[in-house]
Amino acid sequence: MDPNTSGLVQKLAEAGQSHLFQFWKELSPKDQQELFQDLQGIDFLEINGFFKRAMETSSSTKHEKMDERMEPVPREVLGSVTRDRESLKDWEAKGLDCIAQSKVAVLLLAGGQGTRLGFSYPKGMYDVGLPSHKTLFQIQAERILKLQQLAEQKTTVKCCVPWYIMTSGRTMESTKDFFSKHKYFGLDKDNVIFFQQGMLPAMDYNGKIILESKGKLSMAPDGNGGLYRALGNQGILDDMQRRGVEFIHVYCVDNILVKVADPTFIGFCVQKGADCGAKVVEKTNPTEAVGVVCKVDGRYQVVEYSEITLATAEKRSSDGRLMFNAGNVANHFFSFSFLRDVVQKYEPQLQHHVAQKKIPFVDVHGQLIKPEKPNGIKMEKFVFDIFQFAKTFVVYEVLREDEFSPLKNADTQDGKDTPTTARHALMSLHHRWVLNAGGHFIDENGRRVPAIPSLKDGTDLPIKCEISPLVSYAGEGLEKLVKGQEFQATLMIDERGVHELVKNGV
Ligand code: UD1
Repeated sequence: MDPNTSGLVQKLAEAGQSHLFQFWKELSPKDQQELFQDLQGIDFLEINGFFKRAMETSSSTKHEKMDERMEPVPREVLGSVTRDRESLKDWEAKGLDCIAQSKVAVLLLAGGQGTRLGFSYPKGMYDVGLPSHKTLFQIQAERILKLQQLAEQKTTVKCCVPWYIMTSGRTMESTKDFFSKHKYFGLDKDNVIFFQQGMLPAMDYNGKIILESKGKLSMAPDGNGGLYRALGNQGILDDMQRRGVEFIHVYCVDNILVKVADPTFIGFCVQKGADCGAKVVEKTNPTEAVGVVCKVDGRYQVVEYSEITLATAEKRSSDGRLMFNAGNVANHFFSFSFLRDVVQKYEPQLQHHVAQKKIPFVDVHGQLIKPEKPNGIKMEKFVFDIFQFAKTFVVYEVLREDEFSPLKNADTQDGKDTPTTARHALMSLHHRWVLNAGGHFIDENGRRVPAIPSLKDGTDLPIKCEISPLVSYAGEGLEKLVKGQEFQATLMIDERGVHELVKNGV
């Protein structure tokens, strides 16, 4: 392990990254070994190229120009749960058929770092404080189990929805341990497949890789669009092919309402002959932190909330709605053949996006500095950057209150996208399921609670009600359990039955 004889010194010099060796002589043999190995694994010329291209496209003048090139999603590619009610049953049946034939896989994006939530474990392990205390991972696993069951009931043939879980270097071990500890939440271990996304070094504004300590590069996951490289180099595409997967539902870990492998969405995409599709909710607030699905230069794309100007975000159509209102809920549909083309042909064409960050670094004296303003960039690819390559792209609009409540931030008073808002969104949905199935709620005096909970003490608390995904995937099958009956909150319905909990600790 000699950097000189191995050619590493020269390689770094050619790439303008020699500073990474500046503390070499001060390092212990073990630290030298580790640094040597880290550096050998990096293609510096490629990284420099990423930096150059990413910086060129991220300049603000380019953003303004992009605004001028944006157009909303045309009506003809749009399906909607409210406007296309007559087709929903057909789409659902089609999707369930595909599931029953084991043609559908789900792919969870669970890398990243979850820094905003201030939780040191992977986000999927978070318990938002439901009566059952189920974590996001458990809720998603149980939805898959239920869906397999629903599909099997249709055909009486056993089916399987494999669950691919992308983690990062930071989340892999704890995620795997968590699943193993919980016996894969009842799923077959062989059908839960973990794989790891790549990492990229953080760079300063001059394109120099940042050292986080004398012998360690500052590395970060390469964005959820790191998926495509990982699918290829971790053998996941081959695994999908071997299993005969034809359609893939890709989603993000943090949405408590996510309809994993949603048969209606899948059926819609399949019936439209789409190779790529995106689920959206109507964006109503210009400053909401969601990307918008739209066209740029005639090609489909998501323009992220960090990349759109306020003026464009505030533009309205003649009907008064936001012009760019197709809010991305990070639920995507891909056909297997499209995904394969992306991995094999298009991935290298994807550009990195730039996130300006405060990145701790060691200065020339070896002192660790924690900067107070951004001092460098992290580079990320985004999962939706491949929409532009789709031949038939469709968009499916769903209701926010039924399908979208992401967990992004820690609890604060009036906070957005917090554990409290996620918990309330789920309980409020389940409350509506009970009402729609003919059940009622009564208060402690035996009086019927109005369907729309009133503002009590200035707070708008939902009725405490939780239904296990093992009992119902999307509100179906509840009549036999609740019709004509009155319940007092907290109501829990799970595979063991219907329970009214006395203590209201939610
Ligand atoms: C994401 C979407 C945004 C959408 C919003 C809805 C992207 C790039 N942006 O934004 O358009 O409106 O969700 O909630 O998809 N992840 C990885 N690896 C990484 C980084 C992230 O797997 O390197 C995963 C996270 O675990 C998470 C998901 O990608 O499941 C989204 O990441 P997050 O940083 O929360 O994206 P948002 O900025 O909220």
